Amino acid sequence: MSRRKIIIDTDPGQDDAVAILLALASPEELEVLGITCVAGNVPLPLTTRNARIICELAGQPETRVFAGCDAPLQRKLVTAEHVHGKTGLDGPVLPEPTMPLQPEHAVDFIIQTLRTAPAGSVTLCPLGPLTNIATAFQRAPDIAARVGEIVLMGGAYFEVGNITPAAEFNIYVDPEAADIVFKSGAPITVMPLDVTHKALVTQERNDAFRALGTPVGIATAEMTEFFERYDREKYGSPGAPLHDPCVTAYLLQPALFKGRHINVEIETASALTLGMTVADWWRVTDRAPNATFMGEIDANGFFTLLTERLARL
Ligand code: BDR
Ligand code: CA
Repeated sequence: MSRRKIIIDTDPGQDDAVAILLALASPEELEVLGITCVAGNVPLPLTTRNARIICELAGQPETRVFAGCDAPLQRKLVTAEHVHGKTGLDGPVLPEPTMPLQPEHAVDFIIQTLRTAPAGSVTLCPLGPLTNIATAFQRAPDIAARVGEIVLMGGAYFEVGNITPAAEFNIYVDPEAADIVFKSGAPITVMPLDVTHKALVTQERNDAFRALGTPVGIATAEMTEFFERYDREKYGSPGAPLHDPCVTAYLLQPALFKGRHINVEIETASALTLGMTVADWWRVTDRAPNATFMGEIDANGFFTLLTERLARL
C-alpha cells in the first residue's frame, strides 16, 4: 500500500500533540511531509516549540517543522490557555527542543509542496485555526485544486459551540480563513465537536496509556490528565476529549467514523454567532454539499487504535 502524504497544520495543544504522535507512530500508512504551526491555543512561538517537543518525544527529530502565521487574517488572536495551560502543553515535564525549525515559512512550504507533488497526492490535516491554509490558498489560487483531501478538526452542529455559545474554537479564531477553506472546492472531511466530544479519555483509557510504561505513554497520560479538568468542570464529562487525534485516526481507519456529505458555511458577520459552522445536516437548503461532516465515532475502536499505535513509539 502506498503511504498517504500528509501535512499536519497545528497549534499544539495537548490533543494536537496526541494527533501528531499517532501520525508519527504510523509510518506504514502515513508520510508526514511536514508539520506547519499556526497561532491558536497559544501564540506561535509556543506552538512551534511544542510541535518540536513532541517530535523529539516521538524520537523523530528529523521531522520538518515550520513556523506559519502568527495572527488570524483579519482579527486579533484569541488563545486558549484556560484549557491547555500557559505553555499549551502543560502536564508532563518535557525537555526544551533542540531540533531546528525549518527556515522556510509554513505557507511557502504548503504552496511549494502542493505544486510539486502529483495533483491529488497530498492530504492537509488542519488541527487549529485555518490561517495558514487560507493564506496559502489566497496567495496561490492554483493549489486548492491539487489538494487530495482536507481532513480537519473544527466546527460543530449538535454540540454548537465551545468557545462561544455558537462557535467551536478553531473556526471562531479565524472565521474568514475557515470561510476561504470551506469555499475552496477542495474535498473536505470535518471532525466536529459532535464527534470529538465522544472521544473521551476515561480513567480506564488513561490508565492504558500510562501502562505502556514508555515516555510517550506516560506523557500522553499526563497531558490528557491536565486538560481533562476543563471539560470535567464544564460538561461533567468523564475525561478529556481527544479532538485532534480524530483527524489522524480517520486517515488510518476511516470506518471508525460516520457522517454526511452536506453543505457547511461559516458565519463571518454576526457578532452573536461569529465562527458558527452552519451545517445543513438535515439537507433543508439547496446549497451544494462541500464537506463530509462526521457525527459518529466508534470510541472503543478509536482508543484501541490509538493505544496500540502509541505503544510503537
Ligand atoms: C479545538 O480547539 C483546541 O483547543 C483543540 O486543540 C482543538 O483543536 C477544539 O475546539
Ligand atoms: Ca488544535
